[in-house]
Amino acid sequence: MSTTPTVNTSESHAIELDRLDPLRSCRELFSVPLVRDVVEGFSGPGGDAACVYWCGNSLGLMPKATPAALAEDLEAWGRLGVEGHFHAKHPWFPAHEFVRDTAARLVGASPHEVVVMNSLTANLHLMMASFYRPTSERFKIVIEDTAFPSDSYAVASQAALHGFDPSVAVVRLKPRAGEETLLTEDVLATIAEHGKSIALVMIGGVNYFTGQLMEMGRITEAGHRVGAIVGWDLAHAAGNVPLSLHDWDADFACWCSYKYLNSGPGAIAGCFVHERHARNTAGFGEAGFLPRLAGWWGNDPATRFKMGPDFVPAPSADAWSLSNPPIMALTPVRVSLEIFDRVGMGALRTKSEQMAVYLRGLVEDVAGQVGNPPHAVAGQAGNLPHAVQFITPREPSARGCQLSIAVRGGGVGGPRALHKALSAAGVVSDFREPNVVRVAPVPLYNTFHDCWRFASALRRALETSGGGR
Ligand SMILES: Cc1ncc(COP(=O)(O)O)c(C=O)c1O
Repeated sequence: MSTTPTVNTSESHAIELDRLDPLRSCRELFSVPLVRDVVEGFSGPGGDAACVYWCGNSLGLMPKATPAALAEDLEAWGRLGVEGHFHAKHPWFPAHEFVRDTAARLVGASPHEVVVMNSLTANLHLMMASFYRPTSERFKIVIEDTAFPSDSYAVASQAALHGFDPSVAVVRLKPRAGEETLLTEDVLATIAEHGKSIALVMIGGVNYFTGQLMEMGRITEAGHRVGAIVGWDLAHAAGNVPLSLHDWDADFACWCSYKYLNSGPGAIAGCFVHERHARNTAGFGEAGFLPRLAGWWGNDPATRFKMGPDFVPAPSADAWSLSNPPIMALTPVRVSLEIFDRVGMGALRTKSEQMAVYLRGLVEDVAGQVGNPPHAVAGQAGNLPHAVQFITPREPSARGCQLSIAVRGGGVGGPRALHKALSAAGVVSDFREPNVVRVAPVPLYNTFHDCWRFASALRRALETSGGGR
């Protein structure tokens, strides 16, 4: 079936869109891998071209400024030893302060509501140590059924830690039959239905699998209405979509910095604690005492070096930090967040929306031309090899950069074969079981021409899989 394309599909149009892009120079700030380095055994022409890097939702690209900044840390360590804490160009002692303001801006918080520390799952547990305080009446945790596995393990283990059966305590939000994403009204209805038995609502702000952007303000409000704590996993949201955690009144949120925040593999994560909790410095036995797992870096800096045995919480999200931060892991976060400060989330979101609409239009055109209705419903793709269908919501308000493409139909080698064919053509995307190829056009370094190249590679891959006519 051939359909009229919703976007201009010519290569020259893609080149023109790049020429007009006010953010086009940002790509120069990043190292973009070459085809020959990422496609195993690649030989022949085209190896020296940059690959189409669609994996910024998994591991963002390296800012070119990062190696020199890391070399500076090493040089200071060698030259100054312990004095580097105070006399390095970027002193180590206050290093976490250098990333605080930008991190706060990125998530819509005040600086005292954020702290950059640890890794994502560790921070989720630290947050739950304080904010999941179940009782026999109120003990349930609501998450999405397609939550990232680590979140599922974390909430189940927290329930079990408190003596609850995870299969009863964890409520999983499922889409309606035949649908892939959640409707806000269904999320709100589930929260209302379980009501006072819910201790915690903890959902991904942007779902890792479908790319769906949740209505965080409305869901937070609904959780609070039934008396629950509401926390967010923003792994796929931070640096991807504008966030207003303080105004949405979220209790806590955690995110990693290696995806859209381009801070390197396993980079240090971030954490938000709303000021109504972050400002709580009540001691054990005092009214309003808030339990936390404590370490010396969470102690009020004013008394930290008195080295006393009694914990005095810092009057901020810092109270949850445990250890002095690993400097060489923090430096890439600083370098990367400086780029976000210069460019601004508003401009990034504008380009991100434009790219996603463009890419979707190109892919739907390809899908239409190779005999694959763009909105093929699961199971109706008949025996067409490798029909493709977006499962990410179409509306910009319900998604970020990522578009998730479900590969339907039989196809030789199954859905993985299509992903393999794309990889062989120099497209770095990822595959999530059972049948989803995730692609993330990232406005900082991807181009409209990347979108066009992807559509061409997809066309060839579908045709070779037998999807063409
Ligand atoms: C939504 C989500 N939650 C949790 C994690 C686990 O992150 P980490 O390994 O940094 O704890 C990931 C990792 O990709 C993720 O995407």
